[in-house]
Amino acid sequence: MNKRDEIMRISETELAAQRQFSEEFKALPHRPQTYYIVTYGCQMNAHDSEKLAGMLEGMGMRPAPAKEEADFVLHNTCCIRDNAERKALGNVTWLKEIKKERPGLLIGVCGCMVQEPGMADKLLRQYPFVDVAFGTGNIHQLPELLYRAAETRRRVVAVPDEQSTIAEGLPIRRESPFQAYVTIMYGCNNFCSYCIVPYVRGRERSREADDIMREVETLQKQGVKEIMLLGQNVNSYGSDVPGGVTFPRLLRRVTETGIPRVRFMTSHPKDLSDELVEEMASNPALCRHLHLPVQSGSNRILQAMNRKYTRETYLEKVEKIRRAAPDVGLTTDIIVAFPGETDRDFEDTMDLARQVCYDSAFTFIYSPRVGTRAAEMPGRIDPALATERIGRLIALQEEMTGRRFAEMTGKTEQVLVTGRSKRSETQFTGKTSRNISVNFEGNERMIGQIIPVAITAASKTTLKGTVREGENNEPASHR
Ligand code: SAH
Ligand code: SF4
Ligand code: F3S
Repeated sequence: MNKRDEIMRISETELAAQRQFSEEFKALPHRPQTYYIVTYGCQMNAHDSEKLAGMLEGMGMRPAPAKEEADFVLHNTCCIRDNAERKALGNVTWLKEIKKERPGLLIGVCGCMVQEPGMADKLLRQYPFVDVAFGTGNIHQLPELLYRAAETRRRVVAVPDEQSTIAEGLPIRRESPFQAYVTIMYGCNNFCSYCIVPYVRGRERSREADDIMREVETLQKQGVKEIMLLGQNVNSYGSDVPGGVTFPRLLRRVTETGIPRVRFMTSHPKDLSDELVEEMASNPALCRHLHLPVQSGSNRILQAMNRKYTRETYLEKVEKIRRAAPDVGLTTDIIVAFPGETDRDFEDTMDLARQVCYDSAFTFIYSPRVGTRAAEMPGRIDPALATERIGRLIALQEEMTGRRFAEMTGKTEQVLVTGRSKRSETQFTGKTSRNISVNFEGNERMIGQIIPVAITAASKTTLKGTVREGENNEPASHR
């Protein structure tokens, strides 16, 4: 059987049944009227929350201004590291007290954590105040699940055995009118030895290019300025579709719609092709940013992580990008204290970070995840040593970021203005094409526009600038 044949598209009949549940929910006496979604984790989850919100609104509910005031609080959880999971469970437990005062409150838990083996049972046994729980593969069933929970006041749990579906056409309540997430593929087949994602998000499955294009064209017509294409490993987009479109070709088609800015997350270094590098170099609508998680600079550790590239091949790819598109900023993810990591391995990571000089890096201490191969590996690193290592890495990265930011002062950047800065009334904030935050004096009318800003100074995490008045605010390239 072809890989594609195992992937099932949620049928129109099933989606129509869910719409019917939405209507029946609306007619329930004393049904919940307001909702609040607490989102943890990555962009995938953030975008899933937009779909959940879209469905809840389709059920006649409206957003509550605060969690404490909502009739239905849904936690869209993450389990990538132990602390993510503990935070989510802690916040769910906190609601138990609110529920004592307001017994009508419905509590929901969904997302990656629910999809962990044994978690649904644990929720049933240890969290009796949770009313509805469902996995990442059941999102489209929210109307039915919530209807049942509200109608019967019994607990409802739904977790699929196997995740091999794609649900098209779900309503989406987008957070921003000018920036939008578009999922291009679900799941992951890479099984990096530390990572739980393949277990909780299922096998890799690409959306049909035509479905993606329809969504992008609608967003373009709505005036969206920036699209972020999402997938755990966007570089292998289409490899499960016979005769399918490659990722660089998809990028070309997406930018041909006239969307000013297109980003994507995340690229696995092993699948970064020359074709993609060329597309980055030649296509001005592609943002000047590449997130290329390296995880470690030691070949021994990379092998134990099952990353399928070496320090040398990674650096070669970095070189290629730098040569073809020198204005592209690189960012990364790094795990320290992977089982068996020696001082030498860690120094290799430090050395690689120094060599690449990333714009920024997300750094994590290795967290064992039940069911993954690394969790069984010997050589756990002492937490004090792990903390020391990550401290040194963060300090190095701050120095590198400082260096990168210093290079940008004096230049004019095209900035997509995203909103007010938290710091002051007249300060606004936005993102450069390279994905760096810039703060500047501005006004409300600038929000959602791409405007030229002269970079005047840099702090540790942001740039400062002044708006260049009277210039063409929508130049044709490198926005
Ligand atoms: N698909 C993306 C990563 C998603 S998870 C990719 O492959 O690049 C985001 C980051 O979390 C990973 O890049 C990794 O650095 C980190 N991470 C994943 N599992 C982890 C674990 N068990 N402990 C610590 N960090 C982890
Ligand atoms: Fe996890 Fe690796 Fe897949 Fe990324 S590529 S989601 S790190 S298994
Ligand atoms: Fe994302 Fe966390 Fe799930 S990082 S894919 S929300 S485990």
